[in-house]
Amino acid sequence: MQNDKPMTKLVKTIEEWRQCQKMIGNKTLGFVPTMGNLHEGHVSLLGRSVLENDVTVMSCFVNSTQFNNTNDFQHYPRSLSEDLAMASQAGVDYFFAPEYSALYPDDYQYKISENSISHHLEGEHRPGHFEGVMTVILKLLLLMKSDRAYFGEKDYQQLQLVKGMVDAFFIDTEIVGCQTVRNAFGLPLSSRNRRLTKEQREISRYFPEYFHSEKTCEEITDALQKKGFEVEYVREYQGRRFAAIQLGGVRLIDNIILD
Ligand code: PAJ
Repeated sequence: MQNDKPMTKLVKTIEEWRQCQKMIGNKTLGFVPTMGNLHEGHVSLLGRSVLENDVTVMSCFVNSTQFNNTNDFQHYPRSLSEDLAMASQAGVDYFFAPEYSALYPDDYQYKISENSISHHLEGEHRPGHFEGVMTVILKLLLLMKSDRAYFGEKDYQQLQLVKGMVDAFFIDTEIVGCQTVRNAFGLPLSSRNRRLTKEQREISRYFPEYFHSEKTCEEITDALQKKGFEVEYVREYQGRRFAAIQLGGVRLIDNIILD
């Protein structure tokens, strides 16, 4: 069967994106920001955007300012050609992959901060992380000028902070939260999962098993530690349970709503 939809266009500069915007005109635009190394979690966001908008743009940018650990930034998996193929398969129209210098002409002299929820959980364990996230998202939302932007509930605090920022700065983009996509054992899909060894993958199944159980946070922490996980936190906050753990230096997070 012939696919009459044009292939995904790779856009590398802001000037090129401005040209694309002229072509898009007043069609509805959906935007999915990512750091690449796409998996089915990202694809679910892309699929939703393709379904709900005339045109979909995604960004692929490993944002150094949100990494509090340089080792994590350096080892973050990068796979541009595979990502482009997956984006094309998902029906993405534009794939925006800028250089650091294009997104940060100020070299991160200016940044966005928040004074409440960003201090808890991920914020407490990753100093500066949310400033980097909110700053890059603000830049991208202002550049893309999309009608909607799609974010995963897997990064629940990020989703909350982006919604709050959009309201605070009168940004005319609807923020759409999308359900976490999990593997067969219930572990949220993540680009970092790919760094787990075969043995670690086997052990990783205990994370969802304990995290989604009736155990208390303390019991979950103990049980995970006994299996060899390094537990950063397991905590209940504002009606949800959150956790961040490490397995062989690979950091994994999850959250669920409590009944
Ligand atoms: P990244 O980790 O690439 O994730 C991009 C988007 O995909 C985020 O909204 C994230 O919550 C969502 N996502 C990741 N794994 C998912 C899963 N298993 N199920 C559903 N959604 C999932 O999050 C970032 O990048 C960055 O912080 C970014 C927003 C791009 C800013 O740099």
